[in-house]
Amino acid sequence: MPLPQLFTDPAAWQARCGQARDSGDRLALVPTMGYLHDGHRSLLREARRRADQGGRRGLALATIFVNPTQFGPTEDLSRYPRDLAGDLATCEAAGIDAVLAPSDPALMFGPVHQTWVEVEGVSQGLCGASRPGHFRGVATVVLKLFNLTRPHLALFGEKDWQQLTVIRAMAADLACGVEVVGMPIVREPDGLARSSRNAYLEPEQRQAALALSRSLAEAAEAAAAGRREARALQATARARLEAAGARVDYVEVVHPLTLRPVSEAVPGSVMLLAAFIGTTRLIDNRVLP
Ligand code: PAF
Repeated sequence: MPLPQLFTDPAAWQARCGQARDSGDRLALVPTMGYLHDGHRSLLREARRRADQGGRRGLALATIFVNPTQFGPTEDLSRYPRDLAGDLATCEAAGIDAVLAPSDPALMFGPVHQTWVEVEGVSQGLCGASRPGHFRGVATVVLKLFNLTRPHLALFGEKDWQQLTVIRAMAADLACGVEVVGMPIVREPDGLARSSRNAYLEPEQRQAALALSRSLAEAAEAAAAGRREARALQATARARLEAAGARVDYVEVVHPLTLRPVSEAVPGSVMLLAAFIGTTRLIDNRVLP
């Protein structure tokens, strides 16, 4: 597999993608913040698969940009893990044709940047409540990446369920003309959801972090056994997390599309949770049976 073509200048990327789109290529985009793991690998491979259609090879594209506008003032922007060389090798193995990794954040958000995308409704509550401004930063950078790339489709992981919902709402409301594809969570063999932030965990914290996926599995079992009261399911999950030493941000059972809390879990309701293991904030979710 050839190394993907690396672009550090968004304007050059826009010209390349525009030329490909205008000549009839199908473009599939995976926006990321880098430090790619198996969850990203599944997105990259799917982008490759979906870019190629009817025997014609399309363009499978990835972006690597640690977006400062989605980090709060007390969050981990400066220590966010980075590994461009490793990421390019991962993209190469997945068959990605080109990567945009801006050499300077100012190329994406200059000092006079003053336009923001605010998705109401689904951005509020959950991560939106504890990370004010986060989804405004996400929606703004994703719309900018859509405009720079003009992809036919873009792929995002379901681990960030609320983010995926926000991006779907934005793409529909602003008629982006991009199909937003959600991909299933990829887990470690013991159940921990893959995340770049897992790199922060000390071995005993890594063990404690299993409480996230285990409390979700227990909730799914309880719901399958007919225990459907959301408040009870949430309380049990919260107790399991706290027993493992986690500081719970939220545990909520919600409607999968509106993200509004439900009182009774029905098939398709989603339990979403966020918890701090030490100083590392992790999220996970599970669709209830
Ligand atoms: O999920 C991520 O990695 C980021 O939030 C995204 C979608 C690339 C926007 O910066």
